[in-house]
Amino acid sequence: MKPLRVGLAGLGTVGAAVAKIVAEQGTALASRCGRPLELTAVSARDKARDRGVSLTKAEWFSDPLKLATSAQIDVFIELMGGEGDPAKASVEAALARGVPVVTGNKALLAHHGVALAKAAEAKGVALNYEAAVAGGIPIVKALREGLGANRVERVYGILNGTCNYILTTMEASGRAFADVLGEAQRLGYAEADPTFDIGGMDTAHKLCLLAAVAFGNAPALDGIHVEGIERISPMDIMFAREFGFRIKLLGVASRADSGIEQRVHPAMVPLGTPLADVDGVFNAVVADGDLVGKSVYEGRGAGAGPTASAVMSDLLDIARGVRLPTFGAPAATIARPKLAAMGDHQGACYLRFTVIDRPGVIAVLSRCLADQAVSIESMLQRSRAPGEPVPVVMITHEAREAAMTKALAAIVAAGVVTEQPVMIRMERF
Ligand SMILES: NC(=O)c1ccc[n+]([C@@H]2O[C@H](COP(=O)([O-])OP(=O)(O)OC[C@H]3O[C@@H](n4cnc5c(N)ncnc54)[C@H](OP(=O)(O)O)[C@@H]3O)[C@@H](O)[C@H]2O)c1
Repeated sequence: MKPLRVGLAGLGTVGAAVAKIVAEQGTALASRCGRPLELTAVSARDKARDRGVSLTKAEWFSDPLKLATSAQIDVFIELMGGEGDPAKASVEAALARGVPVVTGNKALLAHHGVALAKAAEAKGVALNYEAAVAGGIPIVKALREGLGANRVERVYGILNGTCNYILTTMEASGRAFADVLGEAQRLGYAEADPTFDIGGMDTAHKLCLLAAVAFGNAPALDGIHVEGIERISPMDIMFAREFGFRIKLLGVASRADSGIEQRVHPAMVPLGTPLADVDGVFNAVVADGDLVGKSVYEGRGAGAGPTASAVMSDLLDIARGVRLPTFGAPAATIARPKLAAMGDHQGACYLRFTVIDRPGVIAVLSRCLADQAVSIESMLQRSRAPGEPVPVVMITHEAREAAMTKALAAIVAAGVVTEQPVMIRMERF
């Protein structure tokens, strides 16, 4: 059978690994997909850089857009990254020519997914992006194919390995966030500019793609409530453990009464549940389907091997002639979902107040919460010398987010706290 001619733009961590797999596993891959794979064209910025694999048989393009429109390729793999050009323009150009595309680019799909899916379907070609969500975990495949007959009620998980590494290390060592972040950067687990990861945006990109496939909607990135892990302190991690929880950065998408709820924030997860035990740079996703119930997927969310594994699975599908709608339903039929307001979210919270230890303070905290119908399940207070700031920790019963926010504002206004209160949502999955 004729070889599938592969054009690859981006030869960094993931792209070089993909080039290597195609070069070294050719025979095994050909037997699995029924035709040889041939890397015929590549593009990156620096032609001179050693990629750890011989690329002499592939034509070099210094312009990825020219590669995308080359007549020498049957499939275009985009592994440059970024929501804008050249990634966007080259993916658009390949699809416009009727060339199927594989990408690991969550930012591109989160911002332009529907338009690109329409372009792909107009030409009857695939637009695959398994590597964009949870790295090596085949979660797009699981949702789009394996759980295709389910009405998915909720999909959630740990989608950013950098944050999970930082939180796991903070818990194990008792060290502060900034200290552990610095170490993660030295070890290569965090970017030089970590804002996207620790601020929750990377998780938000992945969550809107997961939600789109799970619920059959267009990705709605701007409808996600996003908080990062910057304010998590060793003290909160320690209190979490005392209450039987572990703090994780979660992405959660669920069907609520008022629409689709999408949120990214640190959350207390009960010890002994699958997500609590996901450590270090690992990712995990849980899907709740009406037929299958709860299913859990765990694995490596990043890195050359796991991410290239996901890219290759997309490539094998194309070589086999398998094509599925990008978001699980025809692009023309998917619409922006009706989104639930975060203020309507119902949940229990961990609250930590730093108060001056003097009579009447606890009464003020309790009254402000009670005024908003937020009731307290348990409370913990550490004593210090009278007049010194002390932490007061409360676990609330379920309440509306809007009520919780109002209660915290009233507590700050009452002048009884010396620092901004800490609020961490609790998930009892
Ligand atoms: N790394 C991971 O673990 C991981 C996990 C999941 C998803 N992803 C996604 O996979 C994609 C690639 O990630 P990566 O980590 O491999 O990135 P990377 O190491 O930064 O590599 C990017 C590659 O794109 C090339 N490139 C950048 N701008 C270019 C331009 N204007 N023209 C031509 N080539 C250009 C670079 O060329 P030079 O090498 O010459 O500079 C480099 O080879 C991204 O969308 C990322 O979000 C990565």
